[in-house]
Amino acid sequence: MTDITGQDRVLIFDTTLRDGEQSPGATMSHAEKLEIAELLDDMGVDIIEAGFPIASEGDFRAVKEIAERSRDAVICGLARANPTDIDRCWEAVRHAARPRIHTFIGTSPLHRAIPNLTQDEMAERIHETVSHARNLCDNVQWSPMDATRTEWEYLKRVVEIAIKAGATTINIPDTVGYTAPVESADLIRRLIAEVPGAEEIVFATHCHNDLGMATANALAAVAGGARQIECTINGLGERAGNTALEEVVMALKVRNDIMPWTTGVDTTKIMNVSRRVATVSGFPVQFNKAIVGKNAFAHESGIHQDGMLKNAETFEIMRPEDIGLASTSLVLGKHSGRAALRAKLQDLGYKLGENQLKDVFVRFKELADRKKEVYDEDIIALMRAGEDAANDHLVIQSLRVVCGTGGPAEAELAMTVGGAEKQATARGDGPVDATFRAVREIWPNEAHLELYQVHAVTEGTDAQATVSVRLEEEGNIATGQSADTDTVVASARAYVNALNRLIVRRGRLGEDQKEISYKDAG
Ligand code: KIV
Ligand code: ZN
Repeated sequence: MTDITGQDRVLIFDTTLRDGEQSPGATMSHAEKLEIAELLDDMGVDIIEAGFPIASEGDFRAVKEIAERSRDAVICGLARANPTDIDRCWEAVRHAARPRIHTFIGTSPLHRAIPNLTQDEMAERIHETVSHARNLCDNVQWSPMDATRTEWEYLKRVVEIAIKAGATTINIPDTVGYTAPVESADLIRRLIAEVPGAEEIVFATHCHNDLGMATANALAAVAGGARQIECTINGLGERAGNTALEEVVMALKVRNDIMPWTTGVDTTKIMNVSRRVATVSGFPVQFNKAIVGKNAFAHESGIHQDGMLKNAETFEIMRPEDIGLASTSLVLGKHSGRAALRAKLQDLGYKLGENQLKDVFVRFKELADRKKEVYDEDIIALMRAGEDAANDHLVIQSLRVVCGTGGPAEAELAMTVGGAEKQATARGDGPVDATFRAVREIWPNEAHLELYQVHAVTEGTDAQATVSVRLEEEGNIATGQSADTDTVVASARAYVNALNRLIVRRGRLGEDQKEISYKDAG
């Protein structure tokens, strides 16, 4: 195998900002993308796929600025197999200290049928586009999309063409999450053994989770000789998502006895990055998610608790500190001062200026007055609610709801729309329905409510409720989240948060977001 990475080093390629952001409803703002890229660079990710520069002006600007600010990580942009995409991608990534162009084309029979290219025509296209990319940049990644459903002989042929044309990394995507671990390992092993020139380049694995096997497939590919894993934080991504960064990194760390490969990721930063991605993407982490789920280190049953008290290793294969999780999350109360709050926020990965801290402190005090014990999760929820308000078109000013037995609920809402104050009163079937109707009185919209979900952030009747709302409008999906000790207030904020995200999305479409199809004709 190659010494580009070293035998026992696996490169971590994070595509949260490209493949992850592609998942319906996970739109991130420009500032949020910059922040996530900085966190990824900081935690030691080797390559950051920062976006798809041809997709829109916004995507281009984000990739360019991430490239300009990058420190150690290679900054990569995605491009379809045509010169226009590749040139645009290069324009954005070339500002990085270490740029990479990632170009791809769908090689399976189903995907070849879309641009209606014969095998020979597609082979020619691959040669031309990879050569074009390589003339611009000496770090070029090429992917045969849907590789795992591509005929073996054809896959070998096109991988060889891409290597000859100058690709330095060949990524083998399991685009629809179809492969199984034994196959995944075998595919990489055979490509390395049979394709001329394979020993000169790095093979990467890119797995989707449709059958829940993405992480297992990625690790199997490494056993087969892959030395780059493509993944996203929290496994964010289209459909069932991608290989989760935290899972592969921790699996390699905890089971280094049988998987003797290392990564450059500082695992103690995992929890913070996971929380930030959950917040900015609007995709909460499921409670029982491996490594970063709320219950991943929780022990409920008597036997488990007893074992844990005697020796934590009885029921834990890694320590909470290994992923940056404080062993206890009880932190602040109403007597805590500004310095304690600042220290806690820093611990949780938030960097605030003095003015922001002042504002958060006021909201923290309000919360601490209502709630005896303020946990990490409460602080994160508080920050999320504050961030939402900062740049939003719609901002809730006040809400009063009357509800109970014997009649419809009534909501009185004051909200600013682009800074202008508006008020409405509405009745509904329960307090949440009345509140949502009041929002629609002020901001009429056709968005369809696809999901409404309530979770308690911590325990007790004074716990904050986190509400998630998912809206759909003309094919655009946006999720919103908020938390408050009052479930109706949290619901109103989550609904308005999702509407604000739809507004951002409309704005992006307005600025000439291209219909990104994987049809490759250029
Ligand atoms: O899943 C996939 O095939 C992709 C490619 C663009 C690499 O994301
Ligand atoms: Zn993908």
